[in-house]
Amino acid sequence: MDAREMKIKAADTALSYVEDGMRLGIGTGSTAEEFVRLLAERVADGLSVVGVPTSERTARLCVELGVPLMSLDELPELDLTIDGADEVDGKLSLIKGGGGALLREKIVASASSRMIVIADESKVVETLGAFKLPIEVNPFGIVTTRLAVERTAARLGLSGAIEIRRSGGSVFTTDGGHHILDASFGRIPDAEALATALNAIPGVVEQGLFINMASIAIIAGAAGVRTLKA
Ligand code: A5P
Repeated sequence: MDAREMKIKAADTALSYVEDGMRLGIGTGSTAEEFVRLLAERVADGLSVVGVPTSERTARLCVELGVPLMSLDELPELDLTIDGADEVDGKLSLIKGGGGALLREKIVASASSRMIVIADESKVVETLGAFKLPIEVNPFGIVTTRLAVERTAARLGLSGAIEIRRSGGSVFTTDGGHHILDASFGRIPDAEALATALNAIPGVVEQGLFINMASIAIIAGAAGVRTLKA
């Protein structure tokens, strides 16, 4: 099974949690896109759901494939969010934001009664942090904010390069008009403490640590699909 087949397997398993009439948060990234493709087939067969997308990219795919959408303001409470992740640990704490959608992903997941993560085996780690932690920041004073992130992390014993994310030769801008700092802290022993400290920095809009949000992770590997519960 190659990586794409694993993503499809995880997405297909997640579909079994989707019930008629559900209000769904729909994630961002290549795994979430496999979920959208499978969901669209069910919708074409008569399944009635309404989705709230976590990015413009996901919204475009849903529209293209005929998955009905509403905004979070029209549908402020959701039954279930299904989304990918960049890293998942044994407690189902996550690093997200590799695709730059972390802010909307976190708002949508928080609005949901349940969040299910879909991923291939490569995303499972013992301790979060090998993946660079995305931190969404306001463009104003980004260099000052980066310094504050560096000093805050140092107080928690963490260090490493903190890069302003670029894409196609220019600074990457999120759907919300913000920029992203990618922090190479390495192993993050206390993700909760780091999340709290980062959230307190003026200029930090959101950070990619999702703690106590996912209740189920559906992990597809060469040996098959396994379900982890928080
Ligand atoms: C988007 O901002 C991210 O949080 C994605 O959920 C994450 O990067 C996973 O993407 P893939 O499914 O493409 O690995």
